[in-house]
Amino acid sequence: MPAVVLVGAQWGDEGKGKITDYLADQADCIVRYQGGSNAGHTVELDHEKFMLHLIPSGILYPEKTCIIGNGVVIDLGKLIEEIDGLHKRGVSTSNLRISSRASVVMPYHKKLDEIEDRTHNIGTTKRGIGPTYADKISRVGFRVSDLLQADHFRVRFNVEAGMKNRLLQEFYGEAGFDIDEMISELMAQIDRLKHYVVDTSLLVHSNLRNGKKVLFEGAQGTLLDIDHGTYPYVTSSNPTAGGACVGAGVGPTEIGRVIGIAKAYTTRVGEGPFPTELLNETGEFLRQKGAEFGTTTGRPRRCGWLDAVILRYAARINGLTDLAITKLDVLDELPIVKICVGYRCRGELLKEFPESNYVLQDCVPEYIEMQGWQQDISGITEYDDLPQATRDYVSAVEELSGVKQALVAVGPKRNQTIVTHTLF
Ligand code: GDP
Ligand code: IMO
Ligand code: MG
Repeated sequence: MPAVVLVGAQWGDEGKGKITDYLADQADCIVRYQGGSNAGHTVELDHEKFMLHLIPSGILYPEKTCIIGNGVVIDLGKLIEEIDGLHKRGVSTSNLRISSRASVVMPYHKKLDEIEDRTHNIGTTKRGIGPTYADKISRVGFRVSDLLQADHFRVRFNVEAGMKNRLLQEFYGEAGFDIDEMISELMAQIDRLKHYVVDTSLLVHSNLRNGKKVLFEGAQGTLLDIDHGTYPYVTSSNPTAGGACVGAGVGPTEIGRVIGIAKAYTTRVGEGPFPTELLNETGEFLRQKGAEFGTTTGRPRRCGWLDAVILRYAARINGLTDLAITKLDVLDELPIVKICVGYRCRGELLKEFPESNYVLQDCVPEYIEMQGWQQDISGITEYDDLPQATRDYVSAVEELSGVKQALVAVGPKRNQTIVTHTLF
């Protein structure tokens, strides 16, 4: 299959970075299509660990084209930091390409994110994501290509940044930004980045027309989707599979497979309802054993049992063709493991994920219990060598979600991945 989309099936941090890096070996081109530096994707090699925020997780392969698509919101300063950080560690970014249509996160977007989240309490990453997408949709944002037209940019930026200063000063009572200073900083940043900038949709198309394999790397996850997630406790983009088409500039007919990445349990960062959350020692065990602390903000992640209602929903919304189940090894020591198969809510048994957060917060999970395997599986390399109880757990997940697994992960490193079906 020439074009494969990889999406988070839960609330983010499912191990998309690790699986993207693993599959990138077989791909020619890796494309981020939404989100921004709110994402934190971890790639672990034998002796090295990389945290990627804006750059696709295929960057460790020097011969692969890595694209930041038009659907991404780019904090230029953070991107330069990320590029410099990779260069210092000997990783080349000469194959990186940035969409001229991608939106730019401005200093006032980050400030507004911080101020407004004090009221809205979503628990955002404070990376300016919501305000930047809001400006994009309101048609008052700036794209990478705008910054390359310096004279035109200055005129419009003075107007828009002037309005943001009035909002900050007159409504919020905060300090405004020096507009000329922002312009000089942005001009210096775009000057550093301009040689990466192209029409990335054309580049993706020429790859596909030439029979190359393209991997679309989602950030965040299905339940953080602005349309299909647990609104308003979501991010401001479409991480779901459809977002790949819009955010990269390809038609849906190009997409051959959609892989949902799911942790063997569930985590969430930030606020909002979470039916299977464990506020007990099992939750704490998952957090410690799974090292569940945010890659971007360092916040402890909320942890709970696997929720098959969510996985069925993710299968439907994304049209999943395959599952990748990560972090199975984190469950190694548990005598029993549970999977949520439905919600008991206001006297009813719900089998489908509810549309309303108010309903979701009243949902009590109905579980099936399974035998744990109580064995270290982190060194196992063949699916058939996994303990029977682990394979039973995976089979239950397949059956309950309606999607077959194509690979499972038993540790954070590249080689701790067991593939059962070829994806490209
Ligand atoms: P992403 O945002 O989906 O890319 O996920 P993150 O990188 O934010 O979080 C996933 C964390 O789990 C990272 O620290 C990974 O190194 C780690 N990880 C990924 N897969 C596995 C696995 O199978 N087992 C264990 N123990 N850790 C894993
Ligand atoms: P990756 O790609 C987990 C969460 C935030 C907050 C909500 C809105 O690493 O899986 P935002 O800053 O996007 O406006 O915050 O979304 N969030 C994530 N949670 N993983 C992520 O990315 C996330 N990106 C945003 O914690 O609840
Ligand atoms: Mg992450």
